[in-house]
Amino acid sequence: MANFLPPPGTSDIYPEEISSWYCLEDAARKIFPLYGFGELRTPIFEYTEIFKHGIGSETEIVQKEMYSFEDRGGRSLTLRPEGTAGIIRSLAGTDVIAGNEKRVFYIGPMFRGERPAAGRRRQFHQVGVENTGRTAPELDAECISMLLHYLEELKITGSRLLLNTRASREDRGAAEGILREHFAKNVERMCEDCRRRIGTNVWRILDCKRHECLEFINSAPDMIEHFGKESRNYFDRVCSCLSDIGVEYHIEPRLVRGLDYYAHTVFEVIHEGLGAQNAIAGGGRYEIFLPETKKPVIGIGFAAGMERLLMARNSLHISDSQPASPAVYLIGLGKDAIKANMPLAMALRKENISAIAEPEEKSLKASLRYANKIFAKFAVIRGEEELKKGTVICKKMSDGTQEEIPVDKLSSYLKQPSIK
Ligand code: HAM
Repeated sequence: MANFLPPPGTSDIYPEEISSWYCLEDAARKIFPLYGFGELRTPIFEYTEIFKHGIGSETEIVQKEMYSFEDRGGRSLTLRPEGTAGIIRSLAGTDVIAGNEKRVFYIGPMFRGERPAAGRRRQFHQVGVENTGRTAPELDAECISMLLHYLEELKITGSRLLLNTRASREDRGAAEGILREHFAKNVERMCEDCRRRIGTNVWRILDCKRHECLEFINSAPDMIEHFGKESRNYFDRVCSCLSDIGVEYHIEPRLVRGLDYYAHTVFEVIHEGLGAQNAIAGGGRYEIFLPETKKPVIGIGFAAGMERLLMARNSLHISDSQPASPAVYLIGLGKDAIKANMPLAMALRKENISAIAEPEEKSLKASLRYANKIFAKFAVIRGEEELKKGTVICKKMSDGTQEEIPVDKLSSYLKQPSIK
């Protein structure tokens, strides 16, 4: 038998589910502009170097999860595994490098070749924001509170904000040495990837989920104390700004995040209603190097996984799913009535009334059965006689009551509040 399932880790989103997605998108388009953010749409694929340089070649994403392919000209392209690097590539063509602030948000699909599981997809969707061009603890705190404002708009309660700092690149040298020393003592008991990371990027070890490494990750020294003074001050100011705004946070010293572009603040929002993949959003302050540039683009941002936001809302029994049913199903008894129903359906749609006209001759019984099947609110029926009189029979499907009304009064009849 033919297999009509989409590829593993991807899903079809059916009309019955789409209103929940609109809800996430509408909330983004309502909340983010309140903070001066405008929507930016970038391609879903970029040159592979953009992600290698931007995200970091030592990350799981770049090493194991990218969907890369060559175009006909032999250039390597990659389906975007996240939004930030492409957004920065796009803004770099503007004056953002000169230190001007740009505030943008984005909504769309991302692609990572991960092992599919509940809440972990190969094609998933993110809604994200980036505020680029300036550094200030106030901007970090504002970005985090904007995320919480968005979650509040979606009525998502029961989440927890985890906060940490990765310090600036200059300020993390001493801490890096201490961390390397700690892991080097146990190197032969750690996973193969982490053994390599001790030499290449020791911070990545803190993000390892392998059970043989967890013991050593949990016993790692607290890094904040070993960061330089400037970075510690920066972090203190972020924390105090958050307290001023009234945001509750939990400092999580092991939080490094899976992307290498972060410097200073990092954060994640986890939700109690999700299983193992409990991060509904994550972000932080970053420095992104684009290929062939010496100066990084700086910014602060986050992305929320839309599938996970929906899972969180489901766990709270918040649902916006609505059947994509028409208000009216037009039934013509006889060829002439069927023909006349086509322009009638058009006229109703122009009055904002959704309508479907049956194109085939069928028995009234079969047509009414179909009206029920598609959850039409009304069946509007006419045969030869009604055509001559200029009327229609309007049958309310929920209780079977019906009324004969002049066809030119149909739309105003359907719009009466008492009828709905
Ligand atoms: P990320 O933590 O990789 O960060 O992804 C952000 C969110 O996307 C996660 O918290 C999760 O909700 C969702 N997500 C990630 N991978 C999957 C997956 N395979 N299946 C389902 N949902 C997933 C970023 O992507 C950064 N670009 C965020 C950022 C923006 N940092 C600064 N600016």
